[in-house]
Amino acid sequence: MRKRIFSGAQPTGNVHLGNHLGALRNWVALQHEYESFFCIVNLHAITVAQDPGLLAEKTRDLARIYLAVGIDPDASTVFVQSDVHEHAELTWALNCVARMSELERMTQYKDKARKQEENVTVGLFDYPVLMASDILLYQTDLVPVGEDQKQHLELTRDLAIRFNRDYGETFRIPDPYIPKVGARIMSLSDPLKKMSKSDDDPNGCVMLMDDVDTVQRKFKRAVTDSGTEITFDESRPAIYNLLEIFHLVTGMGTQEVEDHFAGKGYAQLKGQLAEVVIEFLKPFQQRVREITDDQLDQILSKGREKAAGIAASTLKQVYNNLGISGARQ
Ligand code: AMP
Ligand code: TRP
Repeated sequence: MRKRIFSGAQPTGNVHLGNHLGALRNWVALQHEYESFFCIVNLHAITVAQDPGLLAEKTRDLARIYLAVGIDPDASTVFVQSDVHEHAELTWALNCVARMSELERMTQYKDKARKQEENVTVGLFDYPVLMASDILLYQTDLVPVGEDQKQHLELTRDLAIRFNRDYGETFRIPDPYIPKVGARIMSLSDPLKKMSKSDDDPNGCVMLMDDVDTVQRKFKRAVTDSGTEITFDESRPAIYNLLEIFHLVTGMGTQEVEDHFAGKGYAQLKGQLAEVVIEFLKPFQQRVREITDDQLDQILSKGREKAAGIAASTLKQVYNNLGISGARQ
């Protein structure tokens, strides 16, 4: 049996280069080696207020992006989280296993809660349990995510281990799969913060759908430092980040990248980086535009069917083990 991977992203805002280099790229690389499930997590999206019309649109846009970056719907299962009701149901069961104290320790929750103050929903607090449900429903072996999701993965493992201990063997214990390079792409305007769609300065974040002028402008404004050497030096985060993007986008080795820029200046680095990113985005943007509504409908309904079959079987086991299967024996 091939091992199984599961991952997902929220259909909020635009997908950026950090998402691609830190997450999507790995999904594409792993999909033929593993049995793969890639989910558009719209139930996670509503943990903060969303415009309903826009959310529906972004959900389909994200599915297009998955396909355009190279996820092959014949090899992988692509589906929308809310299409498979077991995600919400398993969350309830796991809510009764998770402890308030462990959720209170989640750094992503603390960060998001700090920004919202009075408007923190119960859903935002519960976000990691919904994520655990996503993963555990599919008896997942590996979860490819960026480093920022590591703590959520640890919680997922803790919940699964606790459930198995208290109610009998039910869930496979998943491992995180965190790539060594590209795990964390930093903001172009503040290299100490990760590249994020919620960056205060929109110039810090390159969107996959950005046009040529925008990409050029963002790299032109990228902060550097007062040095001149263009080397992979972790003590100089701005240059390190630019070089890392160059390395990942071109596929050139790190030594090769350093040799390439030897004797050149920061302006050249930024100019060439903009160029390679533009070339990298061009075919991707073309594919996004080519996917028709009908094709998308077909792919998502096939994905839902496949996902729902597995999810139903896991949930049945969970209900049986908890003694809540009622008349559904
Ligand atoms: P998000 O939509 O920001 O919650 O993230 C979707 C995926 O992209 C997750 O697997 C994140 O770990 C990853 N990701 C987000 N921002 C970055 C970044 N700046 N660098 C690398 N990976 C990221
Ligand atoms: N929380 C993840 C993020 O912000 C998205 C996500 C939801 C996810 N469910 C998942 C990732 C399950 C991996 C597996 O990136």
